Amino acid sequence: MTNREPQIVVIGTGYVGLTTAACLAHLGHDVVGVDVDEAKVWALRRGEVPIVEAGLVGMVSRGLESGRLRFETSYEHAAGDVVLLCLPTPTTAAGDLDLSYIESAARQLRDVLEPGAIVVTKSTVPVGTHRDLLRWLDRPDLAVASNPEFLREGTAVHDFCHPDRVVIGAADVGVAERVAGLYRSLSAPILITDLASAELVKVAANTFLAAKLSFVNEMSRVCEATGGDIDEVIAGIASDHRIGTAFMRPGPGWGGSCFPKDTRGMAALGRQHGLELPMVTATIASNDAHMDHIDLSIRTSLGRPLADATVAVWGATFKAGTDDCRDSPALAIVRRLAAAGARIRLFDPVARPSVAGVEHCGDAYDACDNADLLVIATEWPEFGEADMNKVARLLAAPTVFDTRGILDPAAVAAAGLILHRPGHGASWAGVSNRDAVGTGSGGPR
Ligand code: UGA
Repeated sequence: MTNREPQIVVIGTGYVGLTTAACLAHLGHDVVGVDVDEAKVWALRRGEVPIVEAGLVGMVSRGLESGRLRFETSYEHAAGDVVLLCLPTPTTAAGDLDLSYIESAARQLRDVLEPGAIVVTKSTVPVGTHRDLLRWLDRPDLAVASNPEFLREGTAVHDFCHPDRVVIGAADVGVAERVAGLYRSLSAPILITDLASAELVKVAANTFLAAKLSFVNEMSRVCEATGGDIDEVIAGIASDHRIGTAFMRPGPGWGGSCFPKDTRGMAALGRQHGLELPMVTATIASNDAHMDHIDLSIRTSLGRPLADATVAVWGATFKAGTDDCRDSPALAIVRRLAAAGARIRLFDPVARPSVAGVEHCGDAYDACDNADLLVIATEWPEFGEADMNKVARLLAAPTVFDTRGILDPAAVAAAGLILHRPGHGASWAGVSNRDAVGTGSGGPR
């Protein structure tokens, strides 16, 4: 190898690939982003970013202007020294992960890579994928590595530039150190390990975070049943430094493209190896139970049959700061209410998912027009700043259900509205997990 700067190739320009490519160019590397979607590549060459991701437009345009970032559609341009695979691994109908994008990329890379190149998995892959990758590459002169990403949608650029750690797995420490060179200008600890451990870190981290949230949401249900206040309980336990304040917000249940997939992946891994993983399966079951509980609680707070009601819903994305609605708890709420016959007036600042029976509204206030209940399903900051007096004038009934706890209770009360929030006992009398979901549709009009 010469001492020249490595040519970096990123295969796939989704939120992980595009963020990685643009941020590596920002760190001073020469980066080629390869994607088979021609229309997307042409748009990216013009600096048009197809996803909502804070700071990404600026990163991409600065990369293009500096000449350090370019986009190509053909694998002819993928002959880099370090090739990062940022490809989707969707769940199949049978529940397995579909590795066909990775396989296809590996087979094409086999024909273009120079000896000594390293192929790195970056986006989430099942544990053990490195063995398949070596088989598909079928080139003993190439190396593989695992460098899992921990980027959160909506804050991916920030997370890339300020990581808690960089994890690199490889069979050979020299290979790992060459991958580590990509991140040398970041002030983050670099953990070098074996391939299987690196792949496991990613799924284990997401499973642990999901478990933390399932626990917090369970405690919010305990608060409702006992008259406690989840904010007080969290403040009390989070001040123990062993527990901490991060990832402690109760909500409508966790979702998105990662936690549901990774927790199911971890459960499947246990089954494949004949291992009992009761914490993992309970984490998933707890989230399902929580979503049932939220659904029942919304119906109870409405206090009338859903088939006879109009519900305003603020938010469709799985969290704020992204346009992603995959496995969105907000959309799960919308779908359940719509399936039970409610008319839904939905507003989300960036997403307009198509759901039968749902009317998309021009703004948050428009959604409230003559609705019997307002449900806040995603924590967009603008919802927390809404004029509650205006909301009160528009609603047909004075009830707000804030699944994310973003409203100021004093402002809501001052507007004459009744506020329901997960984890706040006083407003939840009569709602219990033992009640059947879907049968209680509230009292008569
Ligand atoms: C998650 C991980 O946080 C990232 O580290 C990881 O890289 C990414 O998955 C991935 O595997 O690619 P993401 O799915 O973008 O990131 O979103 P999170 O911010 O982790 O939120 C996940 C879910 O938890 C959302 O439904 C969110 O609303 C919920 N959540 C999060 C809460 O209900 N409360 C909290 O306190 C935090």
